[in-house]
Amino acid sequence: MNGTDSCGTGWAPSGAARRRLEGEPPPVPARTRRLPMRTDKIYLVGFMGAGKSSVAGALGGRLGWRVEDIDDLVERRERMTVADIFSRRGEAYFRRVERSVLAAQVPVRHAVVATGGGTYADPANRSLIDRDGVSIWLDVSLTQVIERLPSDGRRPLAADRAGMTRLFRDRQAAYRRAHVRLDAGAPVGEIVERIIDRLDM
Ligand code: S3P
Repeated sequence: MNGTDSCGTGWAPSGAARRRLEGEPPPVPARTRRLPMRTDKIYLVGFMGAGKSSVAGALGGRLGWRVEDIDDLVERRERMTVADIFSRRGEAYFRRVERSVLAAQVPVRHAVVATGGGTYADPANRSLIDRDGVSIWLDVSLTQVIERLPSDGRRPLAADRAGMTRLFRDRQAAYRRAHVRLDAGAPVGEIVERIIDRLDM
């Protein structure tokens, strides 16, 4: 929807912002527009190493909201690490569980959800997220991803550098559809403040 139509998306400009818009030219996309957002659910999306989990923890603490992490929920449900799920059951199985734990989060309100790097790249997940709350893309550069990701084997899709680079490029178009884009290169505290600035609490 990219801010051109706020109906039924779970967020909306405040009354004051809406009044300010009256009589103005057609709206520009949400990520360039500085309108407040009203929501009780925030999804952090973006590539591995963007800092989604760290920002979710800090933002949830600041708002007094629940913090949920899709990878943690998958691991708890399966009683296995993400790396083990990939190697023992395969990626398709991981994606099914990921979809299911995401759907189970819909009734949870006043929550910040850190998604996995692939969650928002899936069209069905993306439409669920964008109907349920505000999606915030933590936009990280490939250089930063490479600097940030430890080679600890916890991220199966980061093991092969060429494959990861392809994945990074392929997913940009999906991430770009998020309601809001923020530069993930900024310190966590600053990202949190930028999000709070844009929330109509
Ligand atoms: C994945 C990213 C990981 C995890 C899994 C698959 C991906 O999450 O969900 O390894 O497809 O990009 P993080 O983005 O939290 O590392």
